[in-house]
Amino acid sequence: MARRILLLGPPGAGKGTQATMITNALHVPHISTGDMLRAAVAAGTDLGRQAESVMAAGELVSDELVVAIVDERLSQNDARCGYLLDGFPRNVAQAEALNDSVVNAISTVVVLSVDTEEVTSRLMHRAAEEGRVDDNGATIHRRLEVYTAETVPLVEFYGSAVLEIDGMGSVDAVFSRIMIALAKS
Ligand code: AP5
Repeated sequence: MARRILLLGPPGAGKGTQATMITNALHVPHISTGDMLRAAVAAGTDLGRQAESVMAAGELVSDELVVAIVDERLSQNDARCGYLLDGFPRNVAQAEALNDSVVNAISTVVVLSVDTEEVTSRLMHRAAEEGRVDDNGATIHRRLEVYTAETVPLVEFYGSAVLEIDGMGSVDAVFSRIMIALAKS
């Protein structure tokens, strides 16, 4: 059966890290709006120019822009037999737009729970190593506020499709919890 997974969790919860491992295991494409937007910024496209300052401030890029790039990506052949969405939908309006454009767009929602102290520590560590523009104290704080206000309501929106996973601990321990939960779902 095609797996159409949505991975949710606060900034620094390990979505990107786990998404790579899950998609390698399940052989479905990893569709990350954050990665697509950062690629557009790096390439200097119109989309990148519109998104750059919004991302640097820790705010959400407009629903219209992200819905359009995800619609286009999901229409590609490799997404016909399942996918893992990482970072989209990020609010109820995006979830409703996805439901309008794709029948049964999401089969399972994996929510990674990681406490604020741990995600902040992970992101500050990444800031020192990679220099992502939104990994600084003020912007991390804002990204966490936006997550609580805009994205947490999706847990209720997706209801019984949600699998809550403890995202604390090692990368391998979290991956193992996710795969066990997916196998049972
Ligand atoms: P996005 O790229 O989606 O970023 P995010 O949600 O803030 O998440 P991060 O990438 O920071 O963290 P992650 O949970 O993926 O963790 P990771 O595996 O990287 O979005 C960025 C911006 O783009 C948004 O703020 C917004 O502006 C815009 N955007 C994106 N999608 C949008 C949408 N749909 N609508 C509107 N705007 C949108 O791990 C983080 C660090 O921790 C890494 O260094 C990693 O090595 C480390 N780590 C991971 N797991 C562990 C572990 N278990 N133990 C220790 N360290 C760990």
